[in-house]
Amino acid sequence: MNIILLGPPGSGKGTQSYKLVEKYKLSHISTGDILRNQIADKTSLGLEAKKYMDKGDLVPDDLIIDMVSSTTKDIDSILLDGFPRTINQALSLEKEMNNLDKTINYVLYFDVPFDDLIDRLSQRISCKNCSKTFSKKDDEYICVEGCLNQELYQREDDKPSSVAKRMETYKELTEPLLEFYEKKGLLNKISANSSILEVSLEIDKILQ
Ligand code: AP5
Repeated sequence: MNIILLGPPGSGKGTQSYKLVEKYKLSHISTGDILRNQIADKTSLGLEAKKYMDKGDLVPDDLIIDMVSSTTKDIDSILLDGFPRTINQALSLEKEMNNLDKTINYVLYFDVPFDDLIDRLSQRISCKNCSKTFSKKDDEYICVEGCLNQELYQREDDKPSSVAKRMETYKELTEPLLEFYEKKGLLNKISANSSILEVSLEIDKILQ
């Protein structure tokens, strides 16, 4: 089973990925996490990507496409989180999947009102070790993945000026993918502004 998670910043793609990976034995490919690891390792890709990410812009397609295709070719069941994000990336993925004799089975679209997203992103804190995300509204600021000593931090691009730009970028470049996948009969809309558990149950109904 190969799945794409599609949705605006803060819509809960990362949060649900951790559950899906465990339940359906998928390999999680989060382009955001890969890029943040590249930045932490100070690679040339990381240094180049950081210039775009901090401002809330997308990293150029050629860099992202090369990065993803070098990962997907050896994997059977893929959960793509944050890719594709442009029509160009979607076309390239389609070509890559055809070459590998694979198909995308589901595109799960996380639908959340924009005002809720702004609130979620301003409250989000992430684990420096495993990248899992939490909310400042949670009772305890600790990573539940066994990373107890790992600092939780606010991402640079979750600061208000970058969030506004990320929302604009999403509307302009990523939202057209909804029609792209709708026409292919792959799009499944999730009401992702309910609780984390309810969202998870809604996804299960689609996948089972
Ligand atoms: P990326 O890391 O992919 O960021 P994003 O798509 O903007 O998604 P987020 O990580 O912000 O949100 P999410 O949907 O995963 O939400 P989460 O589960 O954390 O990309 C970052 C940057 O990298 C991009 O801006 C771009 O520059 C670059 N990039 C990445 N991929 C690229 C690509 N393909 N092409 C070009 N550039 C690329 O949840 C958010 C918060 O809400 C958390 O605090 C969580 O606890 C809380 N929450 C989750 N679900 C719920 C719920 N149901 N109810 C209440 N709270 C909830």
